[in-house]
Amino acid sequence: MQLTPEEQAMLAGKEGKAKRKAMELLVALGAIYGADRLVPITSAHLSGVSYKTIGEGGIDFLEEMAADGKVVVPTTLNPMGMDGERWKEMGVDQHFADRQLLIISLYEKMGVEVNCTCTPYLLTNRPKVGDHIAWAESSALSFANSVLGARTNREGGPGALAAAITGRTPNYGLHLDQNRRATHVVEVEKGITKDEWSLVGHAVGRKLGACIPFFRGLGNDVNCLKSLAAAMAAAGSVAMFMVENATPEQPDSLEGLPVVKITRQDIEDTVKRLRTGTKPDLIAIGCPHLSEREMKELAGFLDGKRKKGDVEVWFCTSKGVWLRCPKERAVLERFGKVLCDTCMVVAPIEGKHKVTASDSAKACAYLPGLCSQKVYCGSRRELMELML
Ligand code: F3S
Repeated sequence: MQLTPEEQAMLAGKEGKAKRKAMELLVALGAIYGADRLVPITSAHLSGVSYKTIGEGGIDFLEEMAADGKVVVPTTLNPMGMDGERWKEMGVDQHFADRQLLIISLYEKMGVEVNCTCTPYLLTNRPKVGDHIAWAESSALSFANSVLGARTNREGGPGALAAAITGRTPNYGLHLDQNRRATHVVEVEKGITKDEWSLVGHAVGRKLGACIPFFRGLGNDVNCLKSLAAAMAAAGSVAMFMVENATPEQPDSLEGLPVVKITRQDIEDTVKRLRTGTKPDLIAIGCPHLSEREMKELAGFLDGKRKKGDVEVWFCTSKGVWLRCPKERAVLERFGKVLCDTCMVVAPIEGKHKVTASDSAKACAYLPGLCSQKVYCGSRRELMELML
């Protein structure tokens, strides 16, 4: 890989230890993937935030990087393992909370914006068409590639941090035009509703694996696109997709591409596969984090109704959306907790809950393995009706 004199100086340690380590990591990644050079980035988004997922090894790495490392591009952070203020109400213990707050302070020391969300694109980190970026968090990076037209590979936490510290990332994969072409056409049967896009995403991810699907006629509803992106990334490592007349990049030609149909039967099979439990003791909505419009829709449906039973309910969102929705929060708090900076998958819910209900195919796919949960997979309307 060709390095500029400035990059060579970083690699030689002339700009400090963190930059040297970051550059070593990027050079190693570039060599593995055959990159010709590093490309400047305009933003980064980091995963590897919850103490549950990174543990003590992750803290050691962050302490080393934070000793003299600073990010040089706007950089945001994925959800952590708890709400920074309401962690006791979530059942999080003191040791976990202390280690979690240490992780956040290390990121803050490096200059990272520490509002923790998987939907940074709804707030302060919204790249433009053609921007090269280094994003981790599979749902967010797929949204950035597909809906915003920015360019990122599926970064891991350390690779994204290294890119944030140097302002560069190796030029391979989805940074290159030739790798951003549709591989399949997907047709979704009429009658499948917006509420079911997450299930569509799971079905496509399972059927096709890593691919770039082109969807015929799905429309451009942002909330649906974020659900679709999350589910496809979780089920099939899909890092980019296109939607007819909706995404900035469209295929030059569809000739010769295999056509895949998603039918009502696929949706029913997906629910069957994901639903492993009945009678949830936690209902968790907000994967990916709820947008302002979703908060309004939820509050609009629940306003004037009464909660039945004492099942625990979480609405997960970002601090930015939380701040913008005081009236909606007041309604939702009568049914459960509106939590910021965290989610049902990265919080330590195992041990406290056994069956979690979610309308997100991504959460339903991860909850058994990462949180030892049985899962009640249902539509958002169904989940809300469980509370009434
Ligand atoms: Fe976000 Fe957590 Fe889902 S990080 S995409 S809410 S699993």
